[in-house]
Amino acid sequence: MAEELIIPVGTDRKEIYEVLLPQINSLIETESDLTANLANIAAALKEAFGFFWVGFYVAKEGQLVLGPFQGPIACTRIPFHKGVCGASYSRQKTIIVPDVDQFPGHIACASASKSEIVLPVFHRNGTVAMVLDVDSDQLNDFSETDAEGLQSILTLLERKL
Ligand code: SME
Repeated sequence: MAEELIIPVGTDRKEIYEVLLPQINSLIETESDLTANLANIAAALKEAFGFFWVGFYVAKEGQLVLGPFQGPIACTRIPFHKGVCGASYSRQKTIIVPDVDQFPGHIACASASKSEIVLPVFHRNGTVAMVLDVDSDQLNDFSETDAEGLQSILTLLERKL
């Protein structure tokens, strides 16, 4: 396993996702512990992109419970139908929110959060195991590039669930 991420400076997000993907693969492919893998994925995304907040909410006990993350402290439990995370979980799809103030029911864990993207992570049986939530302190910070780049990372993770 590599001990450091290699992220070229001055490249755009699409290129960063491309160089990050094989590195995340080598981080998680030989590790069977889910918490360890979620922790390293969150850390790698934080280091590569400097996101304000990045982490997982895991479906358990009838709600979404805070898992490994990087960034400021956050809400620990989110009902399945609440907030952007709950919407992504219950609709089973990726949601990009350009302006969190315009999303009905958005849960403001931190007032500095201005835009976010949430992606579901699926078990092999098609149910949602968890969601990945990435928050930015800038408006309109996420695009299809992020949806595709993050999805490719989550596909690596889904193979291990
Ligand atoms: N904003 C999220 C809640 C989680 S925090 O942002 C870390 C939501 O509306 O679901």
